[in-house]
This record gives sequence, C-alpha cells and structure tokens, in this order.
Amino acid sequence: MDFSLTEEHIMIRDAARDFTKHELLPGVIERDTNQEFPAAQVKMMGEMGFMGMMVDPKYGGGGMDTISYALAMEEISKIDASASVVMSVNNSLVCYGLQAFGSEDQKQKYLTKLATGEKLGAFCLSEPEAGSDATSQRTTAIDKGDHYLLNGTKNWITNGGSADYHLVIAQTDREKKHHGINAFIVEKGWDGFEIGPKEDKLGIRGSDTHSLIFNDVKVPKENRIGEDGFGFKFAMKTLNGGRIGIASQALGIASGAYELARDYSKVRKAFGTEICNHQAIAFKLADMHTHIEAARHLVLKAAWDKDQGNSYDMSSAIAKVYASQVAMDVTIEAVQIHGGNGYVKEYHVERLMRDAKITQIYEGTSEIQKIVISRGLLRD
Ligand code: CAA
Repeated sequence: MDFSLTEEHIMIRDAARDFTKHELLPGVIERDTNQEFPAAQVKMMGEMGFMGMMVDPKYGGGGMDTISYALAMEEISKIDASASVVMSVNNSLVCYGLQAFGSEDQKQKYLTKLATGEKLGAFCLSEPEAGSDATSQRTTAIDKGDHYLLNGTKNWITNGGSADYHLVIAQTDREKKHHGINAFIVEKGWDGFEIGPKEDKLGIRGSDTHSLIFNDVKVPKENRIGEDGFGFKFAMKTLNGGRIGIASQALGIASGAYELARDYSKVRKAFGTEICNHQAIAFKLADMHTHIEAARHLVLKAAWDKDQGNSYDMSSAIAKVYASQVAMDVTIEAVQIHGGNGYVKEYHVERLMRDAKITQIYEGTSEIQKIVISRGLLRD
C-alpha cells in the first residue's frame, strides 16, 4: 500500500495553496460580511484549470484524477469555503454529470464551456418539500412532443444567481415514481425561468444561493440527459462524487481552522508562557490533528476508489459524514483556543465554524449519508 502523493499531486496542491493565499485570503472577510460572490476569483480559478479538473482535455478540462481535485478542494476550503463550493458544484456535480451521462452534442455545447470556467453550472435537485427525500419531486416536465414544459420551484441552489447552465431534476411521470424522473439542461435567461431572492445564510455567505422558479419553461427534447426515466439515478450517481468534493471541503475547513489555532497557540501567552505549553491546549491540538488525519485518509480513499473504477457510494458517504463532523468539532475547538479573539471576524475561525455547519447538510445530510452507508452494509 502506497500512501505517497505523486509529484503532480504535490504540484497541484501547491498551486492551489499559492492561489488561495494570494487571491482568496485578501477580501475573504469582507465577502463573507457583504455576501459577495467571488466572481473575479472564480474567473481566475477557471483560468488555472480548477473549474473542470477531472474533465477530459478534449472537452476543455484538466484530465486530472479525483485525488488532485480533493487536494485542491482542501487547500481552497482552508481559506474560502464559499469559493470552494462554487468549484465543487461545477466540477463534481455539473461537469461530472455531463461528462459521464451527457450526449456528445451536450458535451460539445455545454461541457466545453463549463470545464474551462467560461460558464458556470448549478445542480437543481432540492425543493421546498424534497430535500432529503429526493424522489418526492414536485417540479414537473411534461412531454410536449419536441420539448418538455417545465414548471416548479427549486430551493437552496448553489450558484443559483450566477450560473449559466442549470441541471434541473423534474418529475415527468408521477405514476412511475423514481423511474419517472428526468434531468434536463436549462439555460439562464430562457422564457419563464426566474431567479428568486438570495438566501441570507449562516455560513458560506460569499456563495450565491437562490430559489429558482420555472414557469412554463420550454426545454428542448435534446436537453434531457440520458434515457427517459434516468433522472433519479443520474442525481444519485452524480451526488456520490459530489460528496467527495464536500468531504474535501469539510477537511479543508477543519485543517484551516487547526492551522490557525496551532499558530495562535504558539504566540498567545497566558500564565507566563505561550498557551501551547499548557497541556489543556496541547491535547486539544493533538486531538484536532488526529481527527483531521483520519478524515484526510477517508477523503483520499473515496477519491482513490473513484479513480480506480471501484464503487464509491459508500466510501464517499463515509468520508462526508466523518469529515463534516470533524469540521464542526475542530472549528469549535479552534474558536475556543483563540478565546475572545476567536469570536471576532478578524481571526477567521468564527467564519470557518459557521462554514463548517453546511457540510453536514448539503449534498445529503449526515443522516442521509448514514442511510447510504447502512444500505450498503446490508447489501454486501
Ligand atoms: N448511488 C447510485 N444509485 C443509488 C444511490 C446511490 N447513492 N442511492 C439510490 N440509488 C438507486 C437505487 O439503487 C435504486 O435503483 P433501482 O430503481 O434500480 O432499484 C434507486 O436509486 C432508488 O433508490 P432508493 O429506493 O434507495 O431511493 P430512496 O427514495 O429510498 O432514497 C436516498 C435514497 C439515499 C435517501 C436519496 O433520496 C438521497 O440520496 N437523498 C439525498 C439527496 C441529496 O443529497 N440532496 C442534496 C441536494 S444537492 C445539493 O446540495 C447541491 C448543492 O447545491 C451543494
């Protein structure tokens, strides 16, 4: 068993680290405060190849493996989890979904632009009454011959206000339950497609989360992804990889908070010495690091499974449920180590603590991951 990273992995990780320090760190507090989408930074991420990392170069992507993607996601999330969720949705939900299941025409028309970062994507599954229970879609797409007529509302859509191309999941035949669901590519600006108000969130405040309203939107037949009735499977299979992205994000949030707490403990003095010399703090750092290391192994194992062509529904759910718990626990401890300073924005850890929470909610709550894991255990 070889745990070492390749030279290419290290190069990609270091490039992401360097980019993050120079381009994302300045202004991250202001963007969080003002709920400002990191548009300029996302554009740069596209230029650097971070928006379509795993896409085949013939469609404009980086042709990299999932391990490279997880490493880049961790680095970017250490500093700016708002920017990393934009990247995650574009890479592992939208680009992956189109590369794996789209037609050649769909890849040429849409994937080539998404992979280079020229256009941005969103993944529209959740609804007011269908978050965890994804089969209960209320959005309908009625077959009208040469097109589908799309009606309904999607909620909590990451990149909702900024995306150019939306992968929308909708019910086409309620009788068939999850076999009567399809996925469609819908373009921003089409008649009847309205962007609802932006959500005012606890964390990842720089990301752009909206409801989307579809009112008699005409979707051409050729924009359906896969065979008729493939939409639910499309969403599930795509989310398996998305969960590796969010697990990497959670890992990055945890490791970013840990590094800040470690560095702070080496300079902050109390009772005549730097606080890292107090066992109360040193043991906290030891625990934080141990849990982060365990999370990193789970994240890289899930990424490796995907790269090897192994099944990864379970390993991605395990990585996500564990890494997101670690993100929560470690960020809370990081605030504690910072004391009063931890509670103010300038020291970054309070933002990381707020950002951590969403990793236990989106792309399947922790409870959903446990459903996936337990079903996998009983299936095998
Ligand atoms: N991988 C592949 N296939 C899967 C799967 C998976 N993880 N989970 C289910 N399936 C398949 C099943 O094998 C089954 O296939 P057959 O019809 O061939 O038998 C089919 O899908 C139906 O499966 P279930 O009967 O198990 O379906 P269910 O209704 O019990 O739901 C669930 C399963 C795991 C709870 C699923 O609904 C789920 O994952 N829900 C969470 C959805 C989610 O993650 N939402 C997040 C929104 S996206 C987002 O957050 C993006 C963003 O903006 C950041």
